[in-house]
Amino acid sequence: MFKRVTGTKDILPEEASSWQRIEAEARNIFSLYNYREIRTPIIEEVSLFNRTLGTTAEIVQKQMFLIHNQEDTYALRPEGTASIVRSYLENNLDKTSGFIKLYYIGPMFRLERPQKGRLRQFHHIGCEAIGSQDAALDLEIIALAVQLLKSFGISGYKIKINSLGCPKDKHALSLRLKESLEEKSRELCADCQERIKNNVLRVLDCKNQTCQEVVKTLSMNQSHLCTDCLAHFEEVKKGLNLLDIPFQVQDRLARGLDYYNRTVFEITHSDLGSQDAIGAGGRYNNLVHELGGPDLGGIGFAFGVERLLLAIGALTENTRKKLVYLITLGEAAKTAGIKILDQLRKSDIACDTDYLCKSLKGALRAANDAGADSVLILGDDELKNDIITLKDMSKSTQKEVKIEDLTKELKC
Ligand code: HAM
Repeated sequence: MFKRVTGTKDILPEEASSWQRIEAEARNIFSLYNYREIRTPIIEEVSLFNRTLGTTAEIVQKQMFLIHNQEDTYALRPEGTASIVRSYLENNLDKTSGFIKLYYIGPMFRLERPQKGRLRQFHHIGCEAIGSQDAALDLEIIALAVQLLKSFGISGYKIKINSLGCPKDKHALSLRLKESLEEKSRELCADCQERIKNNVLRVLDCKNQTCQEVVKTLSMNQSHLCTDCLAHFEEVKKGLNLLDIPFQVQDRLARGLDYYNRTVFEITHSDLGSQDAIGAGGRYNNLVHELGGPDLGGIGFAFGVERLLLAIGALTENTRKKLVYLITLGEAAKTAGIKILDQLRKSDIACDTDYLCKSLKGALRAANDAGADSVLILGDDELKNDIITLKDMSKSTQKEVKIEDLTKELKC
């Protein structure tokens, strides 16, 4: 028997209703903030990610799913931001819209070692606001993330924020880090010893326990920030206080991707174990320019849907419509039943029937297994008199209803 690929998951009907609810809540909240949906392809040119996430990023070095064919090599997208900015430029949205707010929902792929909350195919609910450097937008983005969490019924999370500053500040931060880490280089993993030379910021997000211990000993603060970046960060923090959004400044938060500058943030949840980030994001003021566009700022975030679901636990609310199950007895009733099902569905009533030609007892059991709220029974006698038997499954009562009145009866 075939098995699903390692690190992937089947979302069975029971769980799919939770996904539908989360997606519907997300679409509603995004529209309140005037974000519009964008859908980009799952495959992209590999160089798009090398260029934007950085060749030293763990995602690029170790986690890309590559598709080779005779002519080209493509990547299954590991994240959405690079693709959205590529699409923004390719479709000239910078010229037609300038400032734009976009959201996306869809699968992402990373070749990671699977564990609880870490998959090779997982899903993002994310958004990107492109075309402004205003700190008020950073605030809106974080407030939007908070409102989404509220709509999903998630509490008990922590928001950690930091500012990496502009490219000059990032460079200053890197030099300082390099100096402090070179002394401790022998305590770091082989990858981090290389990272000190190539991209020292990546040492900050190394998952290796001993490297994390070293990182904890570093004395870090916001002193790498220039006056403008410091003022920008202060404005973001002031806004969060104004909106009563609790946050912690975490000086070591660098986020594992090269495109970030200025504000970065991460939202964690203590119920999730070691993979505790339910979502994360930040500013990428050079990304549009880096991909050949004008000098425009951008900011966004993404939630991991599987981790949101772990934080929510089992969603109890049932989003399923009430189900009517039709049982027909005999050929004439079966033909009449086809018409009845058609009319009910056209009247927005969810219904199903027995396709296994079971006995009345077997069909009633099937109706019960399908979770039917009511059952219709149509036999030759009923058909002759233009009536149908309507059985309420929870009350175990039944009555006869005229076929012409059936829709009205089921709607009330
Ligand atoms: P990220 O932190 O790499 O950011 O991913 C965002 C979220 O996706 C994580 O916080 C986590 O919840 C979830 N996630 C990541 N990897 C996995 C995995 N292997 N299995 C399950 N869930 C996972 C980004 O991707 C950025 N593009 C976010 C962003 C948007 N920044 C600016 N705009």
